[in-house]
This record gives sequence, structure tokens and C-alpha cells, in this order.
Amino acid sequence: MTGPSRRPQRGQSGPRKTRRKPLDPARRAAFDVLQAVSQRDAYANLALPALLAERGITGRDAAFATELTYGTCRVRGLLDAIIGAAAQRSPDTINPVLLDLLRLGSYQLLRTRVEPHAAVSTTVEQAAIEFDSARAGFVNGVLRTISARDEQSWTAELAPDAASDPIGHAAFVRAHPRWIAQAFADALGAAAGELDAVLAGDDERPRVHLAARPGVLTAAELAAAVDGEVGRYSPYAVYLPGGDPGRLEAVRAGQALVQDEGSQLVARACALAPVDGDTGRWLDLCAGPGGKTALLAALGAQTGARITAVEQAPQRAALVTENTRGLDVDVLIADGRESGLEPGFDRVLVDVPCTGLGALRRRPEARWRRQPADIPLLAKLQRELLAAAIALTRPGGVVLYATCSPHLAETVGVVADALRRHPVTALDTRPLFAPTDALGDGPYVQLWPHRHGTDAMFAAALQVLPR
Ligand SMILES: C[S@@+](CC[C@H](N)C(=O)[O-])C[C@H]1O[C@@H](n2cnc3c(N)ncnc32)[C@H](O)[C@@H]1O
Repeated sequence: MTGPSRRPQRGQSGPRKTRRKPLDPARRAAFDVLQAVSQRDAYANLALPALLAERGITGRDAAFATELTYGTCRVRGLLDAIIGAAAQRSPDTINPVLLDLLRLGSYQLLRTRVEPHAAVSTTVEQAAIEFDSARAGFVNGVLRTISARDEQSWTAELAPDAASDPIGHAAFVRAHPRWIAQAFADALGAAAGELDAVLAGDDERPRVHLAARPGVLTAAELAAAVDGEVGRYSPYAVYLPGGDPGRLEAVRAGQALVQDEGSQLVARACALAPVDGDTGRWLDLCAGPGGKTALLAALGAQTGARITAVEQAPQRAALVTENTRGLDVDVLIADGRESGLEPGFDRVLVDVPCTGLGALRRRPEARWRRQPADIPLLAKLQRELLAAAIALTRPGGVVLYATCSPHLAETVGVVADALRRHPVTALDTRPLFAPTDALGDGPYVQLWPHRHGTDAMFAAALQVLPR
């Protein structure tokens, strides 16, 4: 590689004081958000739009900033491995700001059509501004080494062997931590051949789904109003072709909600579950921000049901109130494990806090931020919340356990624990999701983005037995 001390020759784009041009607005925005993500745990999908609006960046610049930011966040681990190889040192030993610059530069080299000399020189000049010419030289050397080969050539050298370690190979090539690829493979089971499709799906931007509020607007009417397409599975779903859904009149008027079709199916399954003598006491035990509560309440309104919505975080409880305006919903700020509510509910939805591994496509940096150590802590909370949900449900009533993660420790592991410890029996959850196809052997439901176009929601319907 070109070493840090190499002096730039005439005509080369090495660091020179006279050429220290600050980054253009799009790259600057991407660089700032990358730093906010790596140093302040910011969420790129919240930080970037705010920053673009604040700086008045629009059009092609905004699109370029978005591609750079989200793309770099998604493939961070892969970039770091290549940067480490090119620099011949561990990325952990590189100054974090310099490392973010290197990520930004190497992403442009490996994954965009940006001219290599532009990718290198803009990054090197910024390194000279942020640091000094020695470190600008280091950046120059690393990026030039990276630019000598394409991504395929780098991964062929650095990825684990596909034959002896297929999961490690797929994880590396698709830029995921190995433990996440392993978790997806475990959840896919016999369909583990779909692993590559699942991993690839996390790099795709999800289509925006709307839910037409039942009793107010049909999906067909909503689709016509927003120039969208009626959904495949949920009777309330409409797929938006693009644009900002927050500006749609139907959304502003509360006739429709932005909601993944998988989440719609979960709320609907809770309302459809077989319950003899339903008295209309329904509970949502982890309600914030209230998307599923709103659909559940609109469905419950058709039979006069009243929903109690419990949410621990006050700000999220306020969102539940906002999202369920005009519906029969009582919002309670409480820990669902100790809500103090009178037991005897007919239906309880418990959509537990989870790793969110089923919605990685929505959070560009999430795959690198989550850690395996998060799993046991969350699984414990999930078991406790499910136990509380069961205790609050009357015999003959149904608990719908849901997560937005396919990790087995958060899905079947939690449900198996409940079946062992509490008076419940598992129902076949699949009919509650009809007409959704490709639901596997049951009795539970695992949705997948690559199969269903939804987040990877898991759902298990449990009937409470006489105590
Ligand atoms: C997966 S989200 C629920 C999403 C929601 N059902 C929807 O569709 O809009 C889980 C929620 O549970 C809340 N939560 C976390 N721990 C809780 C607890 N102990 N009791 C009640 N709610 C809790 C979180 O603040 C979060 O809002």
C-alpha cells in the first residue's frame, strides 16, 4: 500500500495545504451523521433528515447524502475489515473520527459510481482539515490501497471460507455481524438456504405501508386517494409508491396510519383469535407508540370492545393517546409486569420490547449496535411480560405474543417457557394470519421481509386454561 509517509508527487492528489477544500454539503452531512452515530449513539434515520432540513439540503445532494450515510452505516463492519486489511492494523486502533472518514471514503470507492479520485481527494482533504498532513497521508494511503481492488476481490480474500463456514461467509459478504446471520439461519431452520435473501433484504429500503382505519375507510378507497396499491395480505394495507406519508390528508385526518403490513396482521390476529363469550375487555400491554392499539381498537369498535393500553415510557404513552384519538382506548402509564390492573381480559396483545432484528432494514446502523449480550436481558423481560399478560387474561381468553425479531431466544424460547410454567396452550396461529402464504409448519407465525415484504414479526396465540 501507499504508506503514510509517502510524499505526494506532482499531479497526485496527496495532502497539500493549498488544496484543503472542505467537504461539499452532501458528504459533510454524511460525515456529521456518521460521527453522531458512532460517538453519540444517534439513529441515522432520525439524525440525517433533521440535518438535511436544518441545512436546506435538497434534491440530488440530499439523495447523495442519504445514500452515503445509510450505505456506510449498513456495511460498516465490512468496510472496517477492508480498512483494517489495507491499513495493516486493527480499525480499533484508528482515531474514531479518522475511521469515520475512511468509512465514508471506502464506501464511495467500493459501493458507488463516484470517481475514485474524487472519493479519495475529498476524504484526504477533509482529513487534512480535521487533523494534519501526516494523517491525511495515512488516509490517502489506505484509500489508494482499497481503490486498487473491487469489493468482490476484497471479500474473496477476507471472507471466511464458504464451504467450511457458510454462515460466516454469508455474514461477511452481506455485511452483517456473524451472530445475527446465525440467529437468522437458526430461525429459518430447514429454509436456511434463504439466509442470503434475508441478509440482502436488510439493505433494501422498505416500501411504506399504510393501514386504512377499519370502519372509516376501505383499503381500496385509501389506495385510490393516495395513488397506492392495495396490500397483499392485510385487508387494511395500502402500499405507497413514494413520497412523504406524513403529508397525506388521510394520515393527517387520522383515517390511516403508517404501519408495516406485518404489524397490521399481528393486531388483526389478536382481534380474530377464537374467544368464547368475549365481553369486550381487551388489553395491549406494551402499547407505545400505539400503532397496533389503534388498529385493535378500530376492530374492537365493531363489537363494542374497549381497549386498555399500557405503556411504561410516558412519551410513548402520549403517542398512544395521539394515535388512538377518537377510539375507545384508556391509556395507562405503568410497567406491564406490575400494572395493578384487574385481571379478566378477554384478549391481550403483548408486543414485547425486543432486539428489533426483524426490522434491521429500517435502522441502518442497528445491526452493528446490537450485541449478543442484549438477548438474555430482553428475553428475561419478555418472559416476565408474557407471564403478566397470561395472569391478566381470563380462562378461555387469548394472549397474542409478538416480537419484531426472529431470534429464537425471543420467540419460541419465550413461548416454550410460558407453556412450561403457566396454564396456557398454544393455538395454531397461522389461520389468524390468512390469507398470508408461506407460513411454515406452525403452530406459530414467523413473517419474513424476503417472503412477505413485511418486517420479520413473530406471533404466537396462547389460550389461557382454567387455573
Ligand atoms: C415493540 S414496542 C410496541 C410497539 C407497539 N405495539 C406498536 O405497534 O406501536 C414495545 C413497547 O413496550 C414498551 N415497554 C418496555 N418495557 C415495558 C414494560 N415493562 N411495561 C410496559 N411497556 C414496556 C416500550 O417502551 C415500547 O414502547
